[in-house]
Amino acid sequence: MSLLDKIDFGRVPAHIAIIMDGNGRWAKSRGLERADGHREGVASVRKVVEAASKAKVKYLTVYAFSTENWNRPQEEIDALMELVVYAIVKETPDLLKNGVRLQCIGDLKRLPEKTCGALLDCIDKTSGGDTITLVLALSYSSRWEIAEAARQIAEAVNRQKLDIEAVCENTVTEYLTTRNLPDPDLLIRTGGEQRISNFLLWQTAYAEFYFTDTFWPNFGEENLFEAIVEYQRRERRFGKTSEQIESEN
Ligand code: FPP
Repeated sequence: MSLLDKIDFGRVPAHIAIIMDGNGRWAKSRGLERADGHREGVASVRKVVEAASKAKVKYLTVYAFSTENWNRPQEEIDALMELVVYAIVKETPDLLKNGVRLQCIGDLKRLPEKTCGALLDCIDKTSGGDTITLVLALSYSSRWEIAEAARQIAEAVNRQKLDIEAVCENTVTEYLTTRNLPDPDLLIRTGGEQRISNFLLWQTAYAEFYFTDTFWPNFGEENLFEAIVEYQRRERRFGKTSEQIESEN
């Protein structure tokens, strides 16, 4: 029996965010190169997008390359950037066929021209997809994003396009790169570490966190369903009491 049968389709997380960790250790444990781990990691992204569509998840955000990852050896950065181009070009027809809309968040200006071009082309071609939105976080970090939003808000106030008294939580949300996405309901981190690593700090204020030791290349359909089932066991109170939540339901 698949764990898909245990999912309550009335309470599926609308948005799942994933910190895909463990590609390097997966490769090392097999005597392979780190780049082999990343290649296998792309195969997991494919499996998980399919699984998320089956579970009727509407948004899936994956942390593919952080701002801090620019400090990795140049050889690994080059391999990852090439891999993104290869995967995007190869997968675009299937994304189109399955109604997957691609989006990106992050400082795309820092990406090689070829990588950026392939991404923009795929974003454009898949813009009509309405089954699921796959968001790739690339050259992304939450502190970069929040600082950038603060700079843009200050600029808007300076140009008198925004009244300083009107700046509130919603204003910040509207200036983030995720402005058109709902906040994640569930954040998954694979690979055994239990930290957030500068990912969606503002947006995960009320997300449920799910940590697993499974390395990302080993994470597949059933692992995603298991995380959703665990999410559905949790009580989300958003600061209220259990009794209040019960009476609302
Ligand atoms: C973390 O594992 C993984 C990354 C930094 C890169 C993940 C990127 C991909 C799977 C490519 C995604 C691309 C597309 C187009 C979907 P790690 O290298 O930090 O592993 P370790 O902690 O075991 O060393």
